[in-house]
Amino acid sequence: MYPLRRNRRLRKNQAIRSLVRETVISPDDFLVPLFVTEGNNLREEIASMPGYYRYSLDQLKQEVKELWKLGLKSVLLFVKVPENLKDNKGTEAINPDGLMQRAIKTVKDTVPEMLVMTDVALDPYSSYGHDGIVENGRILNDESVDALTEMSLSHARAGADIVAPSDMMDGRILSIREALEDEGFIDTGIMSYSAKYASAFYGPFRDALDSAPVDQKDVPKDKKTYQMDYGNRIEALRETEMDIDEGADIVMVKPGLCYLDIVRDIKNEFDVPVAVYQVSGEYAMIKAAAEKGWLDYDAVVLEQLTAIKRAGADITASYFAKDAVKLLNG
Ligand code: PBG
Repeated sequence: MYPLRRNRRLRKNQAIRSLVRETVISPDDFLVPLFVTEGNNLREEIASMPGYYRYSLDQLKQEVKELWKLGLKSVLLFVKVPENLKDNKGTEAINPDGLMQRAIKTVKDTVPEMLVMTDVALDPYSSYGHDGIVENGRILNDESVDALTEMSLSHARAGADIVAPSDMMDGRILSIREALEDEGFIDTGIMSYSAKYASAFYGPFRDALDSAPVDQKDVPKDKKTYQMDYGNRIEALRETEMDIDEGADIVMVKPGLCYLDIVRDIKNEFDVPVAVYQVSGEYAMIKAAAEKGWLDYDAVVLEQLTAIKRAGADITASYFAKDAVKLLNG
């Protein structure tokens, strides 16, 4: 009596395993999130994201040159806004000389071929730490959409290739698409955070940008009235379908690892590229366990990034991108 099939034959050694591997990650898969801060010669390590930094514009130049050399060709920009420039309406977000607008130009001047994506949401600019405008304990939808549309236009004018609304207000994709078309930005893309869950995994990111909701009367303490409930699956399909209908070029699921079922559902259902954001808390967990010697960092990073792609991600936004590419390059 022999087994009918011996699947272990295809696992015999590294050569055969490489030959039959279904999912292979490469630098082409990655989108690199970058945090930018005011100042000079700054490369500030983020306390809850060891090994990840906020860069002043001069240091940003070095970083994007290095990324390009490694084969990383897309970045997603976030800015840390000085406290005195924050207000409820995020007015600073549309300053043509604001930090984001200068960061876009800096990347494009340094490496013109680098694809520049920008985060569109009010939270880094909001005195309340919300993605939209706050009034009487609520986040206003349509007024916020107007602000986010102006913000997107401002990024497009500064040279962004793709704007990435991460706010989860209803109707913002259509509004942004129409405004971009009206101004002639027909080639400026939209990557919509379409299935973005209200997640506890965003904690370290909010430390990085000092953008957490403030603890104040009449200010919601969480983002659950706009970001999705993590118990929901069908709703992710509805959100995604609406964003595609409204003009999204790329859709996104966020966070990554806990939501790979959603990634697969969306990949099976729609024909636009799907991005996944492996978020700050996912980075922090692995870093912390590795620092304690409880996990093999290199192995876990490659395993998770491969799993994200296997689940259906065409694009992975990851804080591990640089380390992963170095590992892949041997
Ligand atoms: C802004 C935004 C957030 C993240 C990306 N864009 C924070 C939030 O929604 O509170 C989180 C990214 C991460 O945790 O790495 N709306």
